[in-house]
Amino acid sequence: MTTTSIPLWTAEDAIAAMEAEARGHAAWQAHGVSIDTRTIEAGDIFFALEGDASDGHDYVAQAFGKGAACAVVSRAVEGLADDAPLLMVPDTLKALEKLGIAARARTSARICAVTGSVGKTGTKEALRHILEEQGRTHASAASYNNHIGVPLTLARMPADTEYGIFEIGMNHADEITPLSKMVRPEAAIITTVEAVHIENFRSVEEIADAKGEIFEGLQTGGVAILNRDNPHFERLKARAGACGAGQVIGFGRDDMADARVQRMSLKPDASYVTATICGMDITYKLGVPGEHIVMNSLAILACVKSLGADLALAGLALGELEPPAGRGSRLEVRLPHGRFLIIDESYNANPTSMRATLQALGNTPPGPRGRRIAVVGDMLELGTQAKAAHAGLAEPIAENDVDLVFACGPLMEHLWDALPTDQHGAYADNSADLAPRVADEVEAGDVVMIKGSFGSRMARVLEALKALGPAAPPRRTTDEELV
Ligand SMILES: Nc1ncnc2c1ncn2[C@@H]1O[C@H](COP(=O)(O)OP(=O)(O)OP(=O)(O)O)[C@@H](O)[C@H]1O
Ligand SMILES: [Mg+2]
Repeated sequence: MTTTSIPLWTAEDAIAAMEAEARGHAAWQAHGVSIDTRTIEAGDIFFALEGDASDGHDYVAQAFGKGAACAVVSRAVEGLADDAPLLMVPDTLKALEKLGIAARARTSARICAVTGSVGKTGTKEALRHILEEQGRTHASAASYNNHIGVPLTLARMPADTEYGIFEIGMNHADEITPLSKMVRPEAAIITTVEAVHIENFRSVEEIADAKGEIFEGLQTGGVAILNRDNPHFERLKARAGACGAGQVIGFGRDDMADARVQRMSLKPDASYVTATICGMDITYKLGVPGEHIVMNSLAILACVKSLGADLALAGLALGELEPPAGRGSRLEVRLPHGRFLIIDESYNANPTSMRATLQALGNTPPGPRGRRIAVVGDMLELGTQAKAAHAGLAEPIAENDVDLVFACGPLMEHLWDALPTDQHGAYADNSADLAPRVADEVEAGDVVMIKGSFGSRMARVLEALKALGPAAPPRRTTDEELV
């Protein structure tokens, strides 16, 4: 996020945007927006949101204690100074939305939105990395992609932003439409459509339709950026057209793709790509390995071009790209007799990303006498498809020359049963019990990939392996060694 000395919000503008009734003193200006007193900073507007488990109104005094500029509340709060600046509103989440909409209205930034079954955060972070070299850039924090995260990100957008990047996600139909209408993107990417969060849908077509809602807020004549290789391309293209898109850019391997990969060389820690992006040829290095990231990079470059930013500079920036934490970051741990490599995918998992990551593991050669080890935890929210999706991983595990599998969770037992016994490392009910088994087994030269849904808490395995010795990012192969 770009910091400026100009306030993010004056009291006057914020009060008007939220149609709030101001109490206490009004001599404040804000430099940020917060919904959580654990991370609030002095000068933030604090929104007292009401959740299922907690009520932000209980934390208003703490917010002021940490230097909040003002607090947005829907009822009186005890224990505050008489002149504490409160903005009374009927509904604090609605007020956050109004502030977000006002932030969108006052900016002339070029705005894009990213959705898809996988790869939203990675794509959003790559766009941030590229665009912040080319102008004042504002992007969603972490995976702030829901009914709170999207208006919060909008409300945090400085007025002088030049590029805005918004991650938009969903678990259900009708979630994306209102968010997209708040963001009003000029370009919208759907990375891919897969059977993720399928338990809330009857078919993958329904998932495609829910992703297609991103075009409901697309500016008239805007650009839809779609995966040309995905079976739902035509369906999504039709939706984009119906929503008034001026251009549809297909990306992928398909000969008909407008953003098309011509050649790619997949190396353990980077890829080398030659692509044609809407008529322009470009060769670039991609600092994050994996064929799936190459595909995402086509959408990223198409988006850069659509927003009027420089494609050649973007290509250079992609060489320096790093994976977001827990999504492919690599770490070497030193043991007495050598090092082993961790591929940290502990943040989340679904069948699509699991297969992509197993392929990345297959592309990473172990050291002398080393083995490829997959440590996998349950993939959640798969409904009736869960059993088959877990057992089905035996195939990519074999294809990618994985030597040993460590698995945890009730669903992963289906994979365990489907594996040949010579691939059996260990199975445990949960990641806490699995972690010491992996730590006992790992040796110098091994490559260990750790992945599972967030709820499977695979970070425990990561911590156990990091405790085995000094850990540091691996030395990256130089370009001369790679080409
Ligand atoms: N195009 C792709 N195909 C398959 N896997 C992908 C693709 N892009 C990214 N991934 C993998 O998906 C995983 C999640 O990536 P990321 O966090 O960017 O997704 P997300 O859509 O933001 O997820 P969330 O729904 O949790 O916010 C990572 O393991 C990443 O490597
Ligand atoms: Mg995300």
